[in-house]
Amino acid sequence: MIKQAVIVAAGFGSRLKERTVSKPKGFLELNGIAIVEWSVQKLLACGIEKIIIGTGYRAEAYDELAKKYPAIQTVFSADYETTGSMATLGVCAKFVTDEFLLLESDLIYDGIGLSVLCNDIHENVILASGATNSGDEVYLEAVNGSFLKALSKNKAELGSIYGELTGISKLSPALLSAMRAYYEKNRAEFPKLDYERAIMMSTDKHEVYIRKIENYAWREIDDESHLEMAQSVVLPVILENESLRSIRREVLLNPGPATTSDSVKYAQVCADICPREKEFGDVMKWICRELTAVVADPSGYETVFFGGSGTAADEVMISSCVPENGHILIVDNGSYGERLAKIAAVYKINHTVFKSSTYEKIDIAALENEFKTAKYTHLGIVYHETTTGLLNPLDVICPLAKKYNIVTIVDAVSIYAGMPMDLSKLGIDFMASTSNKNIQGMAGVGFVICKKSELEKTKNIPMRNYYLNLYDQYAHFLKTGQTRFTPPVQTLYALRQAILETKQETVEKRWQRYTECWRILVDAVKKFNLKMLVKEEDQSHLITAIFEPETPKYSFESLHDLARQHGFTIYPGKLGNINTFRIANIGDIKPCEMKRFTEVLKNYLVSIGECV
Ligand SMILES: Cc1ncc(COP(=O)(O)O)c(C=O)c1O
Repeated sequence: MIKQAVIVAAGFGSRLKERTVSKPKGFLELNGIAIVEWSVQKLLACGIEKIIIGTGYRAEAYDELAKKYPAIQTVFSADYETTGSMATLGVCAKFVTDEFLLLESDLIYDGIGLSVLCNDIHENVILASGATNSGDEVYLEAVNGSFLKALSKNKAELGSIYGELTGISKLSPALLSAMRAYYEKNRAEFPKLDYERAIMMSTDKHEVYIRKIENYAWREIDDESHLEMAQSVVLPVILENESLRSIRREVLLNPGPATTSDSVKYAQVCADICPREKEFGDVMKWICRELTAVVADPSGYETVFFGGSGTAADEVMISSCVPENGHILIVDNGSYGERLAKIAAVYKINHTVFKSSTYEKIDIAALENEFKTAKYTHLGIVYHETTTGLLNPLDVICPLAKKYNIVTIVDAVSIYAGMPMDLSKLGIDFMASTSNKNIQGMAGVGFVICKKSELEKTKNIPMRNYYLNLYDQYAHFLKTGQTRFTPPVQTLYALRQAILETKQETVEKRWQRYTECWRILVDAVKKFNLKMLVKEEDQSHLITAIFEPETPKYSFESLHDLARQHGFTIYPGKLGNINTFRIANIGDIKPCEMKRFTEVLKNYLVSIGECV
């Protein structure tokens, strides 16, 4: 799996004259976006975790870009004025830990080229195209079918032309070392050596495969004519090609599985792998660490995951964390609190249910009175009751429970990664969530994030089940780097991509985006004279329960079907005695999409004669 990319971006771009006076070449804009930013977005969509940019001329522009993309690390090449791309690559090399993609900064290209390289079985691969007639081609000569023999801008220096260098390659650390060694040896004579020449000079010990895509859409932009060609001819082809690969957009306004990005969908389409391979173990370890880091310091907390849904994760916590002589107090103020209690009942765990209104705040004083009885060892509670959109004040309840030495078990299935939270500050010992809600991955992975010191205390609790046992799963993974049973491989790859995208957006900004969508909805709902079940100030901003209009002309099915025709999926209410429908605004959705939905809702209400 390729996780790193290097972009060499130190050059002057002097052939573009005044266009590059204040900014380097990578900041030439096409359709309002800097070409290097197009490139960064494609790399991120392809699952690259870290993008190292070797800077020089006008380095500050790249430093600024790095503030927008946390995956970018800039490395300044102090000698950029007197050296070439190999020297820039050399300064980046100390941050390269594995196979990596190497790109030039002044390229536009179809993102498919990156997947082709990542998928290629060869260690060292140059991506090549057929003839571009761009006027600045680097030609490639092949040997033994399609391995690099030589390259040159001068056709006469080559025996035959196999293809053109695109400026996108995949290299191994071993080849990179050889290239650096060659450069160091010849630096005095050729300080401005290009990286491609260093590749060529290293092929005696390292085979370099040429992966040629005859009609590949790409262009390097070195001068005014390239820029004109890129804008008028190449970019439209790239955009058309990429649009052909986009998946039909369905905006899910149900509370999960949530809408996912195309890059998360595509992350599932990858080479088969046996999950017992170390390579996959490393992916799982990375996922666990990153899931933890969303809400806690990984040195004190651990994520344990299972193939299963959110309910599986809830069942893991309830069945694995309460000892035989324990007693869990479960707060029930909606379907999911009720579910926690049902799980406890199925396992015959000593439990007491604390009932509370489904749409009004929990009476904290009454809850504290229960804590004071000293009967309870554990508390089970839902952070965000998805049934109604009520956000329980766990920032008050969990620290209070800790005051009475009560272990806190929290269903955070529909809030995790949708709102900033810190388990340590909140006093949460165990929390459950799932891959398909605010983390914006695919359904199939349920996970529990545990305070390590509390997890250790569950070690000797006799197993009440086999598959869903928390400590056994944790201990096995710690020892072997593998799960006890077959993990959902492709869902985990999608989860990896979803985590990368969460890190890129940040949970803080995701919360703001969700809140913006919610605000658009709530404003429209009020304008349309609809009423909400939960007071605005007690709502989570992630799902809104709305009273159904009281007219026989209304039916949930007709509203649902109309919304579906427009690409939106909505959800019925979940309270037996109160008629509501629910609109969630989690997942990869945009405020403009929520705005469109409110127009559909308005049209529906008008069609049934409701006053809007
Ligand atoms: C708060 C909460 N807990 C648990 C679940 C159950 O998750 P799943 O349907 O993935 O089992 C959900 C699902 O929406 C939920 O919102």
